[in-house]
Amino acid sequence: MLPPPAHGCPVSSHRDLSAEELSALAKEAWRNNSRCIGRLFWNTLELLDARTATTPDEIFEACVHHLRFSTNGGRIRSAVTVFPETPEGQRGIRIHNRQLIRYAGYRAADGSILGDPEQASFTAKVIALGWTPPRERTPFDLLPLLIEVSGSPPRLYELPRDAVLEIDITHPDLPWFADLRLKWHAVPVISDMALTGCGKRYTAAPFSGYYMGTEIGSRNFGDESRYNLLPLIADQMGLDRVARRMLWKDRALVELNTAVLHSYREAGVAIVDHHTASAQFMQHLRNEEMAGRGVPGDWSWLVPPLSGSACPVFHRYYDEPNNGPAFVEQET
Ligand code: ARG
Repeated sequence: MLPPPAHGCPVSSHRDLSAEELSALAKEAWRNNSRCIGRLFWNTLELLDARTATTPDEIFEACVHHLRFSTNGGRIRSAVTVFPETPEGQRGIRIHNRQLIRYAGYRAADGSILGDPEQASFTAKVIALGWTPPRERTPFDLLPLLIEVSGSPPRLYELPRDAVLEIDITHPDLPWFADLRLKWHAVPVISDMALTGCGKRYTAAPFSGYYMGTEIGSRNFGDESRYNLLPLIADQMGLDRVARRMLWKDRALVELNTAVLHSYREAGVAIVDHHTASAQFMQHLRNEEMAGRGVPGDWSWLVPPLSGSACPVFHRYYDEPNNGPAFVEQET
């Protein structure tokens, strides 16, 4: 016997989903995402239905619309743009960028990298495909979108500057922070995962929320394999970097994260600190229990990368992922 269709799926998967069904599918995929600490708000996800977009130009336009819609002048709206579904066995529409907004990473001959090391191979790829970087390269150059529709070579598109809101990083009481000329973008939009469920697969379904501060302050800026800023911040703070036990990394992390949260707030751009996000996730656990559902969770992703044990999400374990609607990784 066949298993009953998942909640909200039509009995036959041979027809297109209605907008309501698609919206419910995407919300459920968010609710099922074991890595996400922001799931209290799963039901607020806005669907941008782009299932009539088929050419690279139309897909690019819909991506730009997604950026403007979700940015909303800083009052960020969680959203997913869904492009036409991919029939079984086909490659479908692909956005090659990991996120719609990312900064280039230029690898020099000596192996050093200007910009985001995470984007070094993608940057080399788009340059090989004909992208011309700005004349003056900086650590924060916007990468172009690389869009592929079935059967044709991918095409490059430059993002309009006014579709990308960025925040200059300053610190509430360390004035030298501004001189570092750090910045980051307002909206994270994951663009290379597939949305699956109800027997369907959408290989292009970029989705976005707003940031938790540690994603930027701890990981993007702090990781050794990313902008690796802890030694610089510690030196600016006048900390002795000889003895690990003096916790210079930890102290630098706190100031970096303080600066990120402060800057977004000053700029009127939505962001959440990890303590608030953890408390909200605990509320989500209670809500789901009340609704009679389990909460799939991945402890190593849910616990924030700063002061883990000071956050309630640290002090318990979570359910295994189920097999309902999901955002899944796919081969590029
Ligand atoms: N960690 C990723 C980044 O720093 C973003 C992942 C999605 N984050 C989110 N708040 N929805 O860009």
